[in-house]
Amino acid sequence: MTNNYDQVAGSYDMLSRLVFRNSIVHAQQVVLPFLNVPCRLLIVGGGTGWILEELAKIHPSGFVVTYVEISGKMIDLAKKRNAKQNPVSFIHTTIEDFESSEKFDVVMTPFLFDNFGNDKAAAVFAKLDQLLLEGGKWLFVDFYIDKKINGIWQKILLKSMYWFFKIVCRVEASKLPEMEALFRLGEYNVIHKSYHYRGFIQSVAYQKVKPAQPAFFQK
Ligand SMILES: C[S@@+](CC[C@H](N)C(=O)[O-])C[C@H]1O[C@@H](n2cnc3c(N)ncnc32)[C@H](O)[C@@H]1O
Repeated sequence: MTNNYDQVAGSYDMLSRLVFRNSIVHAQQVVLPFLNVPCRLLIVGGGTGWILEELAKIHPSGFVVTYVEISGKMIDLAKKRNAKQNPVSFIHTTIEDFESSEKFDVVMTPFLFDNFGNDKAAAVFAKLDQLLLEGGKWLFVDFYIDKKINGIWQKILLKSMYWFFKIVCRVEASKLPEMEALFRLGEYNVIHKSYHYRGFIQSVAYQKVKPAQPAFFQK
């Protein structure tokens, strides 16, 4: 299976903090104040689940979380987290195969889309867009390369990460997908944008203002 983080689940947080210090955590913390309760929250690719404890620090109750993760080992770790009175449904599947009749107030995708090529990213975007209620928020946090500047060290670091995760987790992507274009096509409003780790990580809180229009995103 591609994009499976089982092999690194036990050491993922330590590894990511070794390279990025607190930036991976901080980049996600800055978008959490945009959440209000009650909230039906869909988290995709939440990894070891430390984000559940961060959510509980802000609102110990009021979230109803659906946690979709491809890695069984990541889910096992996430189940041990203290989410306080926020119920969490853990769904061990890919977001591509996830089915739900429920719609969500908020979707969170922390470092999910960097795993996908442009076609997969567009298909997953369309699916999540369908699952998000009109007026809902999408908390998007991921690596970022500013094409207007010649970020040599960012490009080298990104290539090394893809090389490592391709070998260990069979990550399918080799470069970052064009996410800004998808949110622009979907006519999402930006309500917060910030950069971390000297511009290599981007945190964006988007708001969905229009009903989903899947035809835009599918080839
Ligand atoms: C780069 S890690 C980020 C983990 C966590 N969000 C963090 O910031 O520490 C990406 C996570 O997405 C999960 N993932 C990758 N592809 C997925 C997919 N198609 N569906 C669901 N989860 C996926 C991986 O198992 C992994 O836990």
